[in-house]
Amino acid sequence: MEIRKVGVVGAGVMGVGVAQNLAQTGHEVVLIDVTEERLQEARNEVAQALRMQSFFQKKKEAGESHDTILERIHLTTDYEDLSDVDFVVENTTEKWPIKEKVYRLMDPICPERTVIAVNTSCISITKVGAVTQRPDRIVGMHFMNPVPLKNMTEVIRGHHTSEQTLDIARQFLKGMGKDCIVVNDLPGFVSNRVLMLTINEAIFVVQDQVASAEDVDRLFKTCFGHKMGPLETGDLIGLDTILYSLDVLYESYNDSKFRPAPLLKKMVDAGLHGRKSGEGFYNYGASLG
Ligand SMILES: NC(=O)c1ccc[n+]([C@@H]2O[C@H](COP(=O)([O-])OP(=O)(O)OC[C@H]3O[C@@H](n4cnc5c(N)ncnc54)[C@H](O)[C@@H]3O)[C@@H](O)[C@H]2O)c1
Repeated sequence: MEIRKVGVVGAGVMGVGVAQNLAQTGHEVVLIDVTEERLQEARNEVAQALRMQSFFQKKKEAGESHDTILERIHLTTDYEDLSDVDFVVENTTEKWPIKEKVYRLMDPICPERTVIAVNTSCISITKVGAVTQRPDRIVGMHFMNPVPLKNMTEVIRGHHTSEQTLDIARQFLKGMGKDCIVVNDLPGFVSNRVLMLTINEAIFVVQDQVASAEDVDRLFKTCFGHKMGPLETGDLIGLDTILYSLDVLYESYNDSKFRPAPLLKKMVDAGLHGRKSGEGFYNYGASLG
């Protein structure tokens, strides 16, 4: 099955990365978000990322001009534009009421054959499948951030996800230059069930004044050889997304170990969302969002 035209729903941190990666690998992209303003920002972010990539690689990807790559990304707020896509990657906010509404809206519009991949940090793929008429064609696709630079993806098999859908998902990822590890569905899957606890506990450590954010991160980097510390990782993911993910895990498992640190809630209330807002545990100067 040829996957040529792809719907990318949600043009935030992840949607922008997915759209860029797809356009760079020759796919036609329909990028959807709720406002024109957000979509224009998303286009600027892709253009900026392409410039950065060229600067570091000292050559343009596959010899193509940035304009050619950007022209493959069609910006829209109209879900009807999903009526002829071969595949969808959904990347909307990590809040169940938002995702539920989006799936109820796009399921009847997308062609029957189309597989929809849920890019989520923690939300159950089985739960998403249940609000659609195509639970066998819903698959979890937990991309790593930044998407164009990370070649491994955690793919999640929902209760009803078919083997054929998994094969299509593997083929799709291969077309993006990526490999995958397939895991079963429980909220948070493997990576975020572990990672969210680590980031949250690191925030408690800072809140309790055991150490500064810099020292927490330095310990992880120098003692354990991690490329990034947990607080730098939190800033990269987005502290709002970390909070929403912990809320999902807390509700899903009814286990107090997932309760979000009060400092995390306070920072999110203050608009300190990490890199995308310009400030989190670290200061990034002007807003990158
Ligand atoms: N940030 C990460 O590192 C990361 C990594 C893997 C997976 N994820 C998951 O990917 C998803 C997106 O995360 P993000 O970091 O890009 O979040 P984000 O907050 O940066 O972006 C979410 C986008 O969804 C848009 N949106 C909201 N409602 C919408 C609707 N009805 N229709 C279309 N667009 C809508 C918002 O306007 C926003 O642009 C989440 O489920 C998150 O858990 C995030």
